[in-house]
Amino acid sequence: MIPIARPVLGEAEAVAARKAILSGWVTQGPQVKTFEDTFARIVGARFACAVSSCTAALHLALLAVAVKPGDVVITVSHSFIATANAVRYCGAEPVFVDIEQDTYNMDPDELEKVIKEYCISRGTELYYKHVDRLSVGESPLRYLGIPVDFNSHAAGRVAAILPVHQMGLPCDISRIVGIAAKYGIPVVEDAACAIGSDVSLNGGETWERIGKPHGDVACFSFHPRKILTTGDGGMITTNESIMDARFRRLRHHGMSVPDTERHESRNVVFEDYVTTGFNYRMTDIQAAVGIEQLKRLDDILVERRKLASGYGEIMGSIPFRSFLG
Ligand SMILES: Cc1ncc(COP(=O)(O)O)c(C=O)c1O
Repeated sequence: MIPIARPVLGEAEAVAARKAILSGWVTQGPQVKTFEDTFARIVGARFACAVSSCTAALHLALLAVAVKPGDVVITVSHSFIATANAVRYCGAEPVFVDIEQDTYNMDPDELEKVIKEYCISRGTELYYKHVDRLSVGESPLRYLGIPVDFNSHAAGRVAAILPVHQMGLPCDISRIVGIAAKYGIPVVEDAACAIGSDVSLNGGETWERIGKPHGDVACFSFHPRKILTTGDGGMITTNESIMDARFRRLRHHGMSVPDTERHESRNVVFEDYVTTGFNYRMTDIQAAVGIEQLKRLDDILVERRKLASGYGEIMGSIPFRSFLG
């Protein structure tokens, strides 16, 4: 049997985890900070905030761009279930658009079609017209008492666009961001599998790392099936300090000061709980493993590209339709 993905872990990760354990500081602390700083540098983002999974990252990213109960988020169904689940955690409902046949990612033409044909502008905001059709099954919209009089503006606001870089293959992020900007909608990139992926916005002249980010926020996974692993774990990148501050508060119970700051202070530091937060922290043991994993990134990518081109050679001649029967 061919394993779908085997994590590349070795002595370096085992030593790093041991050191973190013996240091006495095992939850979010100095290793997490180093992991975040290194990750931000590698993808070219100003800020990187480590969390417990990509699912947690998506949840916080959607909250941070102000997705609220009753809203909708435009995304794709061709993804792992966590993409759509994160939308529902916010009390919102996903609206799915179709994917491109050659990249398996969000089709920008379909995105524009959904916006033009199924949404209407009200003031500065865009509303999905058929919100009553979404209010079924486990949809959080049902618990908001929807369907309601749609003209009351109670539901259906298009709060975000959530494209996925499926299997690490970048979506057409430049067109998607362009469409989003036209309508003033934030973009959260599900980059769960895209650590180390590059994208060109100028026809191949120059390349940029996914996670820079090109939208407002990008979310990564360190589940063992991904390029790098910390057992479980996630990372959120952004270039906006206000957004980064929100992630840090929300991942740590909404607490106004991090544990490290309180620990290092010579005075008693009283914290405030300024918002309803979550326990989405990454541990220092995971981050210590992650720091070692980042050192392997280039080698892992070389190996994965070699394997991919091998599969490409063997399977390239099989017409797409023959997979579908
Ligand atoms: C596209 C996509 N989004 C989100 C996730 C969730 O990641 P995690 O397991 O780190 O929560 C995955 C995991 O497979 C994924 O493939």
